[in-house]
Amino acid sequence: MRSSSGPPEGRPTVLSVRQAVKRYGGLTAVDGVSFDVGKGEIFGLIGPNGAGKTTMFDLVAGSVAPSAGQILLNGVDVSGEAAHRRIARGLGRTFQIPKPFPELSLLENVLLARQDQTGERLFMNFLAPGRVRAEEAAARDKAMDLLDFLLLKRLAHEPARVLSGGQRKLLELARVMMADPAVILLDEPAAGVNATLLEVIIDRIRAINERGVTFLLIEHNIDMVSRLCNRVLVMASGQPLCEGTPEEVSRDPRVIEAYLGGA
Ligand SMILES: Nc1ncnc2c1ncn2[C@@H]1O[C@H](COP(=O)(O)OP(=O)(O)OP(=O)(O)O)[C@@H](O)[C@H]1O
Ligand SMILES: [Mg+2]
Repeated sequence: MRSSSGPPEGRPTVLSVRQAVKRYGGLTAVDGVSFDVGKGEIFGLIGPNGAGKTTMFDLVAGSVAPSAGQILLNGVDVSGEAAHRRIARGLGRTFQIPKPFPELSLLENVLLARQDQTGERLFMNFLAPGRVRAEEAAARDKAMDLLDFLLLKRLAHEPARVLSGGQRKLLELARVMMADPAVILLDEPAAGVNATLLEVIIDRIRAINERGVTFLLIEHNIDMVSRLCNRVLVMASGQPLCEGTPEEVSRDPRVIEAYLGGA
């Protein structure tokens, strides 16, 4: 079994994880994980509960600092950079448990995710109020288009607390898209989603990917992983177990054992 196959030929590497380690006291949540993701891939990260998948996303996104190892975005070592700097570099992530602001509208929740607003630079409000207003209008249009794309437009002015679990996952996608990321980390986008919404989510991920956006996908829904991902890394107990196509890893006896052992 190949342990590190790398991105398909001809695709520039957008994300490299090199020997990432994260320790929490005596527990090593991520224990020497390396992988490379090429532009336009949908790269799966799977493994039993507690394998360290979300912690791996935390390390890539910069919300936790690694105990050892490096994260490179487009060849630049960002291991020491704060999460907001990585967002500015085109990295987006959704959360395993979405936490929209419950009393804000869907539109307001999506607008909060945008990058680099002129209006937030105080003096621009005095120096160029027209430009600030034009940017506000463009951002609103973009947020509404995203809500429409994710079938949430009719709820745009409702508070986020009215959403079902599945709709929250769709709102997460709208929120992350608002910042125009080049690489998106999706943490269990299908968890708790009904069959109809699942098809919508799969379809929308494909459509965004066809525009050149790279995805990392954590998902327990193996059918979804098989349909979307070209390559998959399996983790267990913090360690990399194997890497390959969805078909290759699902046949690997070590993977089957890891899932059965965790059950
Ligand atoms: N902030 C933290 N402090 C201490 N331990 C943590 C912390 N975050 C995660 N862990 C531990 O690290 C291990 C890996 O957790 P992680 O959430 O990354 O797993 P996961 O693969 O995402 O699991 P799941 O499929 O259940 O979401 C677990 O044992 C977890 O309890
Ligand atoms: Mg997790």
